[in-house]
Amino acid sequence: MQTKIRDILVTYALPYANGSLHLGHMVGLIQTDIWVRFLKMQGHRCFYICGCDSHGTPIMIQAEKTQTTPEILIQTIRTEHQHDLHDFLIHMENYHTTHSPENKTLVDAIFLSHQKKGNINRRTIKQAYDPEKNMFLPDRYIKGECPRCGAKDQYGDNCEVCGATYTTTELKNPYSTLSGAKPIEKESEHYFFKLQNYTEFLKKWTHAGHLQAEVSNKLDEWFKSGLEEWDISRDAPYFGFTIPGETQKYFYVWLDAPVGYLASFKNYCEKNPKVDFDFFWNKNSKAELYHFIGKDIIYFHSLFWPAILEGADFRTPTAIFTHGFLTIDGQKMSKSRGTFIKARTYLEQLSPEYLRYYIASKLSDKIEDIDINLDDFMLRVNADLVGKFVNIASRSASFLQKYFDNTLSKHLPEPELFKEFALAGKDIANKLEQREFSQAVRQIMTLADRANQYIDEKKPWSAIKDPSQQKNVHEICTMAINLFRLLMIYLKPLLPATAEKVEMFLNIAPLTWIDKDKPLLNHKINTFQPLAMRIDKKQIDALKSTTHETT
Ligand code: 2FM
Ligand code: ZN
Repeated sequence: MQTKIRDILVTYALPYANGSLHLGHMVGLIQTDIWVRFLKMQGHRCFYICGCDSHGTPIMIQAEKTQTTPEILIQTIRTEHQHDLHDFLIHMENYHTTHSPENKTLVDAIFLSHQKKGNINRRTIKQAYDPEKNMFLPDRYIKGECPRCGAKDQYGDNCEVCGATYTTTELKNPYSTLSGAKPIEKESEHYFFKLQNYTEFLKKWTHAGHLQAEVSNKLDEWFKSGLEEWDISRDAPYFGFTIPGETQKYFYVWLDAPVGYLASFKNYCEKNPKVDFDFFWNKNSKAELYHFIGKDIIYFHSLFWPAILEGADFRTPTAIFTHGFLTIDGQKMSKSRGTFIKARTYLEQLSPEYLRYYIASKLSDKIEDIDINLDDFMLRVNADLVGKFVNIASRSASFLQKYFDNTLSKHLPEPELFKEFALAGKDIANKLEQREFSQAVRQIMTLADRANQYIDEKKPWSAIKDPSQQKNVHEICTMAINLFRLLMIYLKPLLPATAEKVEMFLNIAPLTWIDKDKPLLNHKINTFQPLAMRIDKKQIDALKSTTHETT
C-alpha cells in the first residue's frame, strides 16, 4: 500500500545548445525518464526538469560560423532537442534555457549573496589571447606541435600520435584555431569563487549518502590536493550574462548552467502556479532533489554546486546520480570511426522503445560505461520484447476474440501464479527505485518466460478442439492476459507507448503500480493489434551506414 506521497524534483544535465542530441545524451535522458515515470506510477508528485545550456564561447563561435546570432542558434537547437525528446518518449515538465530572465535573476542573486559573505575574490591573471580575433582563448581553441614527438596540429592536453600528456603552454609553435595567429599572453582581472571556504562542509556532504561510493572516493583525491579558488568570470566577447557592475565581464557558463535547474523549475512554476518554487528549493525543503549527470561533470556537480547552493541559502541535492559513458560496438562514439549516432538518425530507423528497453537492460546504479552492440541489440529486442513479452498476449488474444467475444472469464484458474507475479512487483519496484534497471529487466523477463511456459503447458490451441474444454481455455487465456498485464505494469516506465496501446487493447484506464494487486476479470477487451515488430537486420545495417554522417 502507498503510504506517503513524496515531492520529488529530478533534473538531467542540461545539453549544450550548439549541437544535436546523440545516443550518448540519450543514455542519461532515458535513465532519468524511466526513473521519473516509475515514481509517477507509484503516485508520487514528481517533476522532470531540464533545458539547454545556452552560454559560452563555443556557442558564440558556432553562431558566427553559421552566420547567425547566438540567440537564434540556441532557439533553433532547443526546438530540435524538444522534438528529439518528444519522439524518444522522454516526458519533461519543462525544457527551458539558461539564457532566460529567470536564470539571470537567480544567478545575480546567488552571486551577490556570495559576494556579501566574502566568498568572491578578484585578482589579475595571465591568459592566452588571440591578437587577431581580439579575444581570450580557451584551451580548446589552441593547437600546436607535440613537445615530445613534434606531431603537428595537436591540442594542448594530449598528443593523438604519441599519447604524451602536457599543458597548452608546452605546445610548440602554438596557433589559434580561430584565426591562425600565434597566441600572446595577456592580463585580465577575474572573479573567483573561494571554494576552499567550503572544504569542511564538502568533506562532510560528499560522505553523507548523497553520492555513489565510487564518486565519494574519487572526490577524496581532490580534497587531498586541496580545494582551490574557481574562476567564475570570462572577458568579452562572450555569450552569457554580464556580472553585476560590469559591462565587459561575464559569468563563466559553468556558473549559470546548474542555476539553470532552478530557473527551469521557476519558469515551470510560473506557468503552473499550484507548484511552489520555494517549497522545493528553500533551505529546509522537505522535497527531494536529484540530479542525474554523466561522469565527466562530477566535479562541477558534487563540489561547486553544493557549495554554491549552501552559501546562497538554498537547499542542497538529496542525491546526485552519475552514469558512465556510452560506447557503440565497444568503441567511443566517434564520427571518423562511424560510431556516432545522432538521436534523430536512430529514430529514422527504429522505435525509441527498443533503445529505451536495451539501455535499461544494461543500466545499474554504478558509473560503469555501457555498450550498445548493435547486433546484440537486435537479438535482445527481438527475443525479449517480441519473442517473450508480446507473444504472451498475441497467442492468447486470438482465442478470446474467436471463441469468447473478447471477454475475460470471471475466475483465474491459478490465483497462486497470479499472486506470485504480483508479489514480484515489490522486488521489481525496489530495483527500479534503486536504479538497478538491468536487474529489474532480468526479473521481468524471467516472469515472461514463466508466463509463456504456462501457456505451453496448457496448450489452449489443442484444448479448444475439445468442446468440454471451452471453459478451461477461456480461463487459461484470461490467466495469460492477466500475467501479461502485470508485466506491462512493470515495463510501463520503459515502454510508455506500448503501455498506451495495451491500455487500449485491454480497455482500461492508464495503468499504475498498485493495479498489479487486482486481476482483470469479467471484462470486455478490444481486438488485439500488433504491439511490436521484429527488428530487421536491414534496419541495423541502415543505421550503421548513416553513422558516418557529420552533425
Ligand atoms: O557537459 C555538459 O553537457 C553541460 N552542458 C552540462 C551542464 S549541466 C548543468 F550544470 F547545467
Ligand atoms: Zn606526440
